[in-house]
Amino acid sequence: MADVMSRRSALVAVGGTALAVCLGCSAQPGASTPVTVPVTDIPVGSGKVIGNFVVTQPQAGTFEAFNGACTHQGFIVQQVTTSAIVCGRHGSTFSLADGSVITGPAAKPLAKATVTRSGDTLTIS
Ligand code: FES
Repeated sequence: MADVMSRRSALVAVGGTALAVCLGCSAQPGASTPVTVPVTDIPVGSGKVIGNFVVTQPQAGTFEAFNGACTHQGFIVQQVTTSAIVCGRHGSTFSLADGSVITGPAAKPLAKATVTRSGDTLTIS
């Protein structure tokens, strides 16, 4: 009986590990479809992850956009704080202003994307 329980426990442990690994799977390499966002959705001194892009407004009225794929292993960055674009996968952080690396393990900056403003709408491509 103890042998059966240990096998069952082992299967649960393996299943839990697989689930934990899958929950962390968010790498989305490849081309990104252009997106639009209201200007008011992008906070001054921070930003927002939108699909495979990151849009920031480091200073009032100045918008920057980057491909959200982290340059470490390609996972999409998860959040933007008032101090950095954050990839929670392994902890890399990037500048709001130019996408440069603040802390690794990423060694290269986020790739620039194009952001254009038309009235109250931003288009990122
Ligand atoms: S994939 Fe972003 S820090 Fe590793």
